[in-house]
Amino acid sequence: MEKRPIGIFDSGVGGLTVFKEIRKNFPYEDIIYFGDTARVPYGPKSKSTIIRYSLQNARFLMQQNAKIIIIACNTASSAAVKYLKRNLKIPVMGVIKPGAEFATRETKNKKIGIIGTEGTIKSQAYPKAIKEIDNTVQVFSKPCPLFVPIVEEGWEEHYVTKLIIKEYLSELKNIQPDTLILGCTHYPILKKQIQTFMGNKTKIIDSAVAIAEKLKHIIPDPVKSGKGKDKFFVSDNEDKFKQIAERIIEKKIKNLKTVKLGEVWYI
Ligand code: DGL
Repeated sequence: MEKRPIGIFDSGVGGLTVFKEIRKNFPYEDIIYFGDTARVPYGPKSKSTIIRYSLQNARFLMQQNAKIIIIACNTASSAAVKYLKRNLKIPVMGVIKPGAEFATRETKNKKIGIIGTEGTIKSQAYPKAIKEIDNTVQVFSKPCPLFVPIVEEGWEEHYVTKLIIKEYLSELKNIQPDTLILGCTHYPILKKQIQTFMGNKTKIIDSAVAIAEKLKHIIPDPVKSGKGKDKFFVSDNEDKFKQIAERIIEKKIKNLKTVKLGEVWYI
């Protein structure tokens, strides 16, 4: 199998939840991660802006010789996966479909909750993907825009986080979905707190796990020797990224560079 790296991008640190799962499942592959920290958050931005950013991010990863692009961001996946698939010459994978398939397999009471950024929820990408698999499933969505800055600030244990979770999720909890999709790659960092609030009758679906599973079919013959190398790039704020990233992936980040926007600003 080719020793070209797997390319992953997100608007910031959230996609590291996907990176971590992929690293666990593909220990010998090289991985390049790009966090667009200069332009985070993507959630409230328009579809056309997110498509433009996503194309730029993907092209940057291709410049680094990536053999596949993983869009480790639900907002970018819901807005741009089709465009990237159509316009790039290498395989592209988003997080929506694997998450929708996983949740639809898991639900027993056919009530699935989805939480995500405003962009992801507005796009209806999850309900559409779920209905295509099983149109008897009822889907309940809720945007939770403050979860992203909470994670980017490293505030998962802060007391205001509990209050914000209660404010956003009370209505959803009353509906009692047995399955809840964390439709934003930042949210698994709040998984413990969300699970505590929802109670243990609700199964929390983390699309990072779903995408790593799916990737096994796309890279059926992964590299099987050597040691996979990691390279990280951000568009701003290296120190802040490093500090939060090391907590998320639970190891030291050595290979981190800032990419000047000028190098990324082209299509
Ligand atoms: N992590 C991204 C997602 O999965 C979004 C964060 C943002 O708003 O930039 O949707």
